[in-house]
Amino acid sequence: MERAVNHTTQNLLVTGGAGFIGSNFVHYWLARYPEQRVVVLDALTYAGNRASLAAVESNPRFRFVHGDILDTDLVEQLLAAEQIDTIVHFAAESHVDRSILGPDAFIKTNIEGTHSMLKAARRVWLEQGARPHRFHHVSTDEVYGTLEPDAAAFTEKNQYLPNSPYAASKASSDHIVRSYHHTYGLNTTISNCSNNYGSYQFPEKLIPLVIANCLDGKPLPIYGDGKQIRDWLYVDDHNRGIDLIIHQGKVDQTYNIGGNNEWTNIDIVTLVCELMDQHHPKGAPHLNLLTHVKDRPGHDRRYAIDATRIKAELGYQPMETFETGIRKTVEWYLQNESWWRQVMDGSYQDWLAQNYV
Ligand code: NAD
Ligand code: DAU
Repeated sequence: MERAVNHTTQNLLVTGGAGFIGSNFVHYWLARYPEQRVVVLDALTYAGNRASLAAVESNPRFRFVHGDILDTDLVEQLLAAEQIDTIVHFAAESHVDRSILGPDAFIKTNIEGTHSMLKAARRVWLEQGARPHRFHHVSTDEVYGTLEPDAAAFTEKNQYLPNSPYAASKASSDHIVRSYHHTYGLNTTISNCSNNYGSYQFPEKLIPLVIANCLDGKPLPIYGDGKQIRDWLYVDDHNRGIDLIIHQGKVDQTYNIGGNNEWTNIDIVTLVCELMDQHHPKGAPHLNLLTHVKDRPGHDRRYAIDATRIKAELGYQPMETFETGIRKTVEWYLQNESWWRQVMDGSYQDWLAQNYV
């Protein structure tokens, strides 16, 4: 079916493009749109990895800029010099546990950093002569708080009730994005997505952590009783949703993105262990490594996304089944051991020691 395009893209600025979802987005976009350019702006924090972009480094339609979203002047220069018409804003501090041990970086990057991006976009896109533009802000379902076991999944109308400093910083940034549309007329959209999984995810997050620890014969830490529920989506399905929103979404609209795929943590770890038993029989049964550890403070019990709006308005449908997606993911980590080993440096070891006392 032909669909109306509300925005035409040519030159994208992708913040946080060396991170997990951002790097997958860059690969997706350059392959999907062979005439378009992508400029990545990334500060290369512990979570950013240039190696995740190695396959596109020599592509003439790609440019990497090592810089900070808090540097508003740099962002303004890039928007003007590169004739950027679309910002896809991924850059953030993204790990809930780190936000509990050190919230300051989350307030700085997620709130002030988003505001810096908005200020630059307003200046170049609205004040230096109006031009067609789109500012897409990538947010999370965690802004809605936690769900009771039998409660309906999150819709875009749910109240914001963030429980961690990470979730609160993302909620705050969502509000600032909204205000820049209503006050200044910036063309903004927001997506709130559930838990992603796939290639290039930093091994502090549950699924890659479990795979790496299985291979090293280390304990698989499960917080509390492990009955917390997350709604898992393959990373390319998230990025396909963002693509639809950028081109066809309504300005000032928020879209939830999710895969209707709820799992308890304990079931996810069991499934990954079964796949590891098949691929790495030497360590089987890997489930023997499962270890219950102290729960995360303020741990949200359940997330679930109701994706009715993006489906009805934009025809969105996830393409990957969980069965194929999780298998692909395990195989990717097995084939790309050098990628994840190189990020497990001294600071990563310090992080493990701090978080899993
Ligand atoms: P990530 O932690 O893997 O990557 C974040 C990237 O941002 C890194 O490359 C890092 O170097 C960069 N960055 C951090 N601070 C920066 C700064 N000041 N200036 C420039 N670059 C900076 O994160 P992710 O998991 O890929 O998440 C990307 C976005 O998607 C985040 O906004 C997150 O809130 C959101 N999100 C993530 C998930 C998920 O499951 N991972 C789900 C929904 C929404
Ligand atoms: O819901 C979207 C969010 O998903 C994103 O906004 C975040 O950026 C992303 O990190 C993710 O947050 P979670 O906290 O849900 O992801 P994480 O992989 O850290 O944890 C998934 C679940 O597994 C969660 O209930 C906590 C639990 N867990 C996690 C770790 C790291 C454990 O039981 N043990 C662990 O060691």
